[in-house]
Amino acid sequence: QSREMEQLLQAHEWSSKLYHFLLKNTEHGKPAMDYLKSRGFSDKAIDTFQIGFAPARWDTLVQFLEKRSFDLESMEKGGLLSPKQDGSGFVDRFRDRVIFPLHNRNGKVIAFAGRILGEGGPKYLNSPESKLFSKSRTLYNLHQAKTEIRKSRQIVLFEGYGDVISAWESGVHNGVATMGTALTEGHASMMRGLADEIIVCYDGDQAGQAAALKSIPILENVGFVIKVALLSEGMDPDEFIQKYGGERFKHQVLDGAVSSVKFRLIYLKKNHILLEEGGKVAYIKDAMGVIAPLPSPTEREIYLKELSADLQVSFDSLKQECNEFRMAMQKKEPLGDNNDKRWNNGRHKK
Ligand code: UTP
Ligand code: MN
Ligand code: MN
Ligand code: MN
Ligand code: MN
Repeated sequence: QSREMEQLLQAHEWSSKLYHFLLKNTEHGKPAMDYLKSRGFSDKAIDTFQIGFAPARWDTLVQFLEKRSFDLESMEKGGLLSPKQDGSGFVDRFRDRVIFPLHNRNGKVIAFAGRILGEGGPKYLNSPESKLFSKSRTLYNLHQAKTEIRKSRQIVLFEGYGDVISAWESGVHNGVATMGTALTEGHASMMRGLADEIIVCYDGDQAGQAAALKSIPILENVGFVIKVALLSEGMDPDEFIQKYGGERFKHQVLDGAVSSVKFRLIYLKKNHILLEEGGKVAYIKDAMGVIAPLPSPTEREIYLKELSADLQVSFDSLKQECNEFRMAMQKKEPLGDNNDKRWNNGRHKK
């Protein structure tokens, strides 16, 4: 490990401590503390997640790092500072923001996410990609969650920092989040090394649901048993917990998470008006695209039965529809023995 990396790690650790101290012990930090309290974050959560505050002035960190003889140029490369407009030195990258330190899986601080107090944009300012920090390989809170994840062999995957923290306050200690990027294969295989089952718990808005849909094949490919949590429109897990409490979150949202097949069906169903015959027919076509490729006959039967009850259409005609769909598929591409990774839910791979 190079000396520059070591310095950068040291600077991140100290900066994180500084931000945390400024939040908790100074007048400057008061509005940020009030903001966090108004969101329902406890002192314990603020300590556990080492939340901090970067003051509005331009040189809090510049001064702090300079005094400790850090090389400011490499601190800029590492994402802690920004170059001045006129090129004559550096300013703090994070100003007037609540600071969420991001750790690697060994618990070392490698980057920061800074949230604006209240409204405005960008909502979160993140550290840039650096020698220390790669978004596509980092999961928020993995360093703290990994013990519980290994024990339960289960992971809860969120979209945001607040979701992980609120869930943690409710006793859900196996929660992690991506850093505002789409889930990557790297994230998936990293998680698969620790767990067998994953609950995707993304925001209830359109963006969150679409992201959940996209993440399913990536998680299937590494062999996860997948469940998807359903949140009412417009709410994210954090908001749900603040409104209804952690117990209801655990028992309704997490325990009520559905299979990835069921989630796909629910997702597709929203596009159709089922009171119209045409809408029903179109939904059935879409649904066959999910059910027909399932390798297990009993699994197909289970979902066809549910569909039959749901739409008031006979099981026999749905089964025939499904068989025809499979024959059409076979013409295009032989189905073979579960050779299509997209549809086997990963259960046949280890
Ligand atoms: P959301 O927009 O759902 O934010 O983005 P949030 O987590 O609910 O934020 P709060 O509750 O308003 O504080 C989900 C995640 O996407 C990333 C962050 O990691 C965020 O937690 N994101 C979002 C960014 O990196 N930058 C942004 O400007 C917005
Ligand atoms: Mn503390
Ligand atoms: Mn969101
Ligand atoms: Mn959100
Ligand atoms: Mn939120």
